[in-house]
Amino acid sequence: TAPAAVIVAIDGPAGTGKSSTSKSVAAKLGLGYLDTGAQYRAITWWMLNNGIDVNDATAVADAAAKPVIVSGTDPSAPTITVDGLDAAGPIRTQEVTAAVSAVSAVPEVRSLITDLQRSIAAEAPNGIVVEGRDIGSTVLPDADLKVFLTASPEARAARRSGELKGKEAADLAATREALIKRDTADSSRKTSPLAKADDAVEVDTTELTLDQVIECVVTLIEGASAEK
Ligand code: DC
Repeated sequence: TAPAAVIVAIDGPAGTGKSSTSKSVAAKLGLGYLDTGAQYRAITWWMLNNGIDVNDATAVADAAAKPVIVSGTDPSAPTITVDGLDAAGPIRTQEVTAAVSAVSAVPEVRSLITDLQRSIAAEAPNGIVVEGRDIGSTVLPDADLKVFLTASPEARAARRSGELKGKEAADLAATREALIKRDTADSSRKTSPLAKADDAVEVDTTELTLDQVIECVVTLIEGASAEK
């Protein structure tokens, strides 16, 4: 198992298995877990609930500091609240998914959420796995290990579709299109876009099962912590 306070950054586009992998790996190694996408979704949910036009960057920036976002880092039961309200369910709706790229592109939002992420990582007693888009490149540049997960667009759309229920899942083509649109927006924004850090280990998960990806990342973490 990993020694104390190993910091792991796991980045990549949607549908590469980041969340499932990060949660399992953290649970196996006794590390904390932080889903940074959930934080961007939470602030987006708050904006929608409070009548802020998510395409008005000035309005989003002005309101960004208002919601209080709290993330619980137990990998077997991660939680997220906004102003004390449980946000775990509502942040997964299509409405939030469609709006999150616009909100997360606003520099004031990124700066506030990045500070929050750094303080959570610094306070994790046994170390932590932090998953997102810019963790290795911007949030935690000194992480002990950086992993960048990739997969073909087809594999990513199929996985994301499998996570959705009923009618939403049926429309694979629409899922693929929405996912590619979101990745393009996340990769092309000015402030800390989705990017592989130079020193990140890239793992193409297209042909791998979840268990194989987990095993691969556990081995990488054990290697990185042995070097620590
Ligand atoms: O991982 P996810 O699909 O739940 O992330 C939702 C959105 O949040 C994603 O489209 C872009 C944004 N995000 C980000 O900008 N930076 C991160 N570190 C994590 C997510």
